[in-house]
Amino acid sequence: MSKVKKAEGKLGVMVVGLGAVTTTFMTGVLMARKGLAKPVGAMTQYDKVRVGKGADKKYLKYDEIVSMASLDDIVFGAWDVYPENAYESAINCEVLKEKDINPVKDELEKIVPMKAAFDKNFAKRLEGNNVKECKDRWDMTEQLREDIRNFKKENGCDRIVVLWAASTEVYVPVNEKVHYTLADLEAAMKADDKENIAPSMCYAYAALAEGAPFIMGAPNTTVDIPAMWEMAEKTKMPIAGKDFKTGQTLVKSGFAPIIGTRCLGLAGWFSTNILGNRDGLVLDEPANFRTKEVSKLSTLESILVPEEQPDLYTDYYHKVRINYYPPRNDNKEGWDNIDIFGWMGYPMQIKIDFLCRDSILAAPLCLDLVLLSDLAARAGRWGTQRFLSFFLKSPMHDYTKNEVPVNHLFQQYAMLKNAIREMGGYEADQELD
Ligand SMILES: NC(=O)c1ccc[n+]([C@@H]2O[C@H](COP(=O)([O-])OP(=O)(O)OC[C@H]3O[C@@H](n4cnc5c(N)ncnc54)[C@H](O)[C@@H]3O)[C@@H](O)[C@H]2O)c1
Repeated sequence: MSKVKKAEGKLGVMVVGLGAVTTTFMTGVLMARKGLAKPVGAMTQYDKVRVGKGADKKYLKYDEIVSMASLDDIVFGAWDVYPENAYESAINCEVLKEKDINPVKDELEKIVPMKAAFDKNFAKRLEGNNVKECKDRWDMTEQLREDIRNFKKENGCDRIVVLWAASTEVYVPVNEKVHYTLADLEAAMKADDKENIAPSMCYAYAALAEGAPFIMGAPNTTVDIPAMWEMAEKTKMPIAGKDFKTGQTLVKSGFAPIIGTRCLGLAGWFSTNILGNRDGLVLDEPANFRTKEVSKLSTLESILVPEEQPDLYTDYYHKVRINYYPPRNDNKEGWDNIDIFGWMGYPMQIKIDFLCRDSILAAPLCLDLVLLSDLAARAGRWGTQRFLSFFLKSPMHDYTKNEVPVNHLFQQYAMLKNAIREMGGYEADQELD
């Protein structure tokens, strides 16, 4: 028997950042609701999980196993540094064609971003002025809490989920004096410690304090600190992060297992990207790229582990680059050159060239992460939701206890399916289908 609370009433989805990813996500949901587009790529809308075994087995969609919010229940809200509404932003981002936006123009125009909690030192290349005036970081958090309360009331929402799909902030290294306990984190907010408290931390704190799960779609440190784990435990709220696993890292986490499973060697893996959207512009700044680089580099280490197979994986050279190249806009090209070796050490090469669309890949992840975080909250799960690692480039894990994150795509998929099974009152298992 499923112990999940039923998904009744409206689900407020409040998104930080109303740029390419968010407007593509919102437009797709609104179009799907009207039957004018298909939510392709969203596991919550398509995937089927086997429950039972042998003659009793059946394959069910997630909402046949557990109570899920439907697309019709969703109400969107957003914050952004720029004042354009979701329609104007969707047009400006040039991800979708106007013919795929115009049928939901009225609904998109009503999504007007609230003023952002922003600090230019965390994203130097952004120039917008739709920004809150804040006395200090604590005041910033208080204002965001008020936004969430007002939005919930004005839209008659039963529940809220907050998703970060805003620009990548500059890298904030974990500082034990500030980020390890909730008391220290709150003290730093009150002392207006601008260096250690990123605006994203104010959003996360505000969400959790208001009883909303928080998802980090960029590689920012934000909820990946013990103080936020403590906050999630105190408020009994789920958190998930970091960084949507969309294009190149999806390929990497699905392809590296081929090399590892077949016991081939790896000499090097060079990944480079060209992209020309605003995300690319922000990531052209070295301090912002550093955050992304740390996230992208972490994938291979836990799949092809030198300590476990010294003959095969010692000292492989792993390099990741992102190059801002305006003509491509959102249509990113991700190249991978993989130098492997086989029998008696003989070298071979594999080349992968993924001509992808960044926001088209990210939009279904937004939907899945939002709906599954809402599910987790109704199931009474709190803290880091490891079953959502499947959707994330740099899955959160307890590094204070040397926990190793799971990056292997198919192990992550098993974790996802088992969590759905368990929440639905079925037994977890390790079979492959
Ligand atoms: N598309 C992908 O494949 C992908 C994959 C992984 C992660 N991401 C991450 O998702 C995020 C969004 O990507 P995008 O292409 O939509 O970028 P984008 O630049 O189009 O949109 C981001 C928006 O966030 C706003 N913003 C920045 N700081 C803010 C703040 N403090 N408060 C409110 N709004 C703020 C910006 O003004 C901008 O409009 C980026 O961090 C990106 O790295 C994207």
